[in-house]
Amino acid sequence: MSERQLVVLTVNDTEHEILVEPRRTLSDALRHDLELTGTHVGCEHGVCGACTVLVDGAPVRACLMFAVQAEGSRVTTVESLGHDGELSDLQQAFSSHHGLQCGFCTPGFLMLAEGFLADEPDADRDAVRDALSANLCRCTGYQTVVDAVADVATRRRTSASKETRS
Ligand code: FES
Ligand code: FES
Repeated sequence: MSERQLVVLTVNDTEHEILVEPRRTLSDALRHDLELTGTHVGCEHGVCGACTVLVDGAPVRACLMFAVQAEGSRVTTVESLGHDGELSDLQQAFSSHHGLQCGFCTPGFLMLAEGFLADEPDADRDAVRDALSANLCRCTGYQTVVDAVADVATRRRTSASKETRS
């Protein structure tokens, strides 16, 4: 067993010190060391995207990154969405468009979509579909997930343009 080392991780704006082996993945550190079990682990080799979190705002597969590599970066997980028991706009849209069934893939899709929309606020439906193709879902057939994210993209644009005008 390799020697464990102290890592300082900033997750959802909170700093945590954890003692981990260098081979500890970020997904395992989040789930087992920080008890942030909203980040799901499916394939563990970078294919399914269930483990997607944001690292410095960009979607990253947490099963492919070591926790030690995330030191000094800003990690954002699905637990950051929604406040005081209220769903975020994206979570609400997944619910109202029936964008989830078993929900296993959902945290990964939510974080992928958050990162994508922050980077591409003007994305149209085709761009949304293309971005979401990075992650796998075994239940929904994808249309409803695309509907949810495209809906939020439109709503955010509308609200941004109203703010600009006021
Ligand atoms: Fe990380 Fe599948 S669990 S990509
Ligand atoms: Fe079941 Fe996506 S909702 S895997």
